[in-house]
Amino acid sequence: MKLSGFALFAGLTSSMGAQAVKVMLLGDSITEITCWRPLVWEQITSAGLAGSVDFVGSMNDLQPNCSRPQGFDPDHEGHSGWQAYDIARNNIAGWVQNTKPDIVQFMLGTNDVNIGHRNADSIIGSYTIMLNAMRAANPRVKVIVDKIIPTSWSDATIEAVNTAIPGWVQQQTTAESPVVIADCSRAAGFTNDMLRDDGVHPNSKGDQFIAGQIGPKLIQLIKDVSTTSSTSTSSTSPTSTSGGSGTGAAHWGQCGGIGWNGATTCVSPYTCQQVNPYYYQCL
Ligand SMILES: *[C@@H]1O[C@H](CO)[C@@H](O)[C@H](O)[C@H]1NC(C)=O
Repeated sequence: MKLSGFALFAGLTSSMGAQAVKVMLLGDSITEITCWRPLVWEQITSAGLAGSVDFVGSMNDLQPNCSRPQGFDPDHEGHSGWQAYDIARNNIAGWVQNTKPDIVQFMLGTNDVNIGHRNADSIIGSYTIMLNAMRAANPRVKVIVDKIIPTSWSDATIEAVNTAIPGWVQQQTTAESPVVIADCSRAAGFTNDMLRDDGVHPNSKGDQFIAGQIGPKLIQLIKDVSTTSSTSTSSTSPTSTSGGSGTGAAHWGQCGGIGWNGATTCVSPYTCQQVNPYYYQCL
């Protein structure tokens, strides 16, 4: 949570509504114990958006040797040693229900390969479970999936995940909830001299590379959220009151749950299905 400099960006924030854009940076140690998050924050600041972005997550640590730009929001969801497999099944639903991110950016799979000895299909399958949980928390969530940085021994499974990511994205992306790629792979230019001696984590050069791949994609989506939220508020209220056969919540939209006061039907051909007691969705 960081809203300093809010007044400076009053013009922008008023067009976005007063809500900050909530961004979750999700991952493992490559997200937690590295220095690319403050570098991305610097890019957000340069783009004039720092006052209207809120990084969210249950973690807020930052390595002491990282640069810490003024106003940096340290909140994140990077968990050292964790696998996509477990996050997908045990954690992600709670994290996104607690924070309701507008944007989730993630790099995961390295520990599935090195610790869990899982294959690319398993990792991509975990991505799908995670994406469904993100959409259950916010049907309009925008997602950046990172192609994973290599290990120094150029692990074949990591390369297989990176090869599978574009097809998965094509399958999963929708107009309402787009999924885009930030390419941090060896093919995109990540070299072994960007790794620490452990062969797994980025050094400062690797941090620069990762920030350079993620930052522009994230800034674009932050701008997109502001556009979507101003158009959606003006277009959803008429639909829910207009009556007639075209009414009901849109595909992926919420249609029920504890505390929900909106539409309880779905536009054809979707039906309202319980995801959890707090969230029914048009699927
Ligand atoms: C921070 O420390 C790590 C581990 O020693 C090192 O690889 C990295 O380059 C350092 N980053 C900066 C920005 O100094």
